[in-house]
Amino acid sequence: MHNWRQAFHLEPPQGWLNDPNGLCWFQGRYHVFFQYCPTAADGVGPKCWGHYETPDFLHWTFAGVPLHPDTPRDASGVYSGCAVEHDGCLRLYYTGNVKYPGNYDYITAGREGNVICVESPDARTMGPKQLLMTNADYPADCTLHVRDPKVWSTSDGWRMILGARSRADAGRALLYRSADGLAWTLEKIVEKSPAFGYMWECPDCFELDGRQFLSISPQGLPRQETRWQNVYQSGWFPVEGDLADGVLGDFTEWDMGFDFYAPQTFAAPDGRRILIGWMGMPDADYRNPTAELGWQHCLTVPREVELHDGKLYQRPARELDALCGTTYNLPEGETTLTAPFRLTANAENSCKLTLAEGLELSYDKQSGIFAMRFADPALGGGRTVRRACLNPGSDLAMDLWVDTSSVECYLNGGETVLSTRYYPASRDIRVKVRGMKAQYCTMKSMELA
Ligand code: FRU
Repeated sequence: MHNWRQAFHLEPPQGWLNDPNGLCWFQGRYHVFFQYCPTAADGVGPKCWGHYETPDFLHWTFAGVPLHPDTPRDASGVYSGCAVEHDGCLRLYYTGNVKYPGNYDYITAGREGNVICVESPDARTMGPKQLLMTNADYPADCTLHVRDPKVWSTSDGWRMILGARSRADAGRALLYRSADGLAWTLEKIVEKSPAFGYMWECPDCFELDGRQFLSISPQGLPRQETRWQNVYQSGWFPVEGDLADGVLGDFTEWDMGFDFYAPQTFAAPDGRRILIGWMGMPDADYRNPTAELGWQHCLTVPREVELHDGKLYQRPARELDALCGTTYNLPEGETTLTAPFRLTANAENSCKLTLAEGLELSYDKQSGIFAMRFADPALGGGRTVRRACLNPGSDLAMDLWVDTSSVECYLNGGETVLSTRYYPASRDIRVKVRGMKAQYCTMKSMELA
């Protein structure tokens, strides 16, 4: 039976996966931890950290489940967090989630969001859990929703950023400073005025070419025609100056597709900024048919993030080019291609590409609107359309990375990206091309042990 198992995207062996956590390069390997509920494909069960390792983004090993909710301070879940190397060890920081049984709103009462640190000599064996901060340590005007520590070291110590919701229902990030990575002092509450959503999840701060960027996953943005179309968003602000005293510029979404949330970035040893997102969406009202088979969700491919003319561009990490075979021209009209494959196309006018007779990718040159539409809603688990506004009047360049049950669609050199899961009946995909010059290559699967 066709089971939609992915060929070059990380998914759990069984159970539920959400956010990428603890992304790092350590002891000669990349480590990709992730929010993992091994016992239930619907995610209702103990939330742990799962762990994948790879030397090259091509050969992956599932390295088990190193963190479980097994103390009073993380009893309801080892929630999202990060990893930083320190003195030859790996320090993992995460949110210990605690929900008290009872009749609470779980916003201002009934829960804890604790910052916990664990040291590991090898990324697999975990030392004791050290409690660093509790809700009593956060600013008094925060609700109990404070979580998802991201830590990095600077020339004069350490910094941490946490995602939070204020009592006035404004999303914010809490910036902390520390000399040793264990005792933390609040440096700044980072907010937008007027409020930008009611909660910021999974904040991340990084530098590219000497400029700072703040990435957040905000909740509560009102849905519009060509932006903020999902239940929650993920995107970045340019920071004028330093986050501690700077101003946030305009928000740009990382990915305009149906399935993208809670990304995290890290630095590869050669300095590249790599981003991985969850190719899923919390609280979305659609059915993912793999859940009935025992697992659900996957991560995006590792993406390189680059700064050009003040904008962030994304592309699949160059290591993944090794999965691609010879390139052939794809004629106008219909062809059958076997997934996984990569499809690139250029169009000087409006154009349309249809995959599996139900997923339409179309571009209207005059308005600059690119649409990802499920003409056959069953193919997308019940979803309909997502739109992105590109540059009206301009040509279109598309680079599609098509896996067994997902499409990552990089437009105009990665200036705009749309990702989605989809569920075709087989690996043989009907591809219909109209109004573009297209090429394709077949792809090899990554190796997973
Ligand atoms: C984002 C998120 C995080 C939290 C984690 C729990 O998807 O809600 O804020 O730490 O998932 O799994």
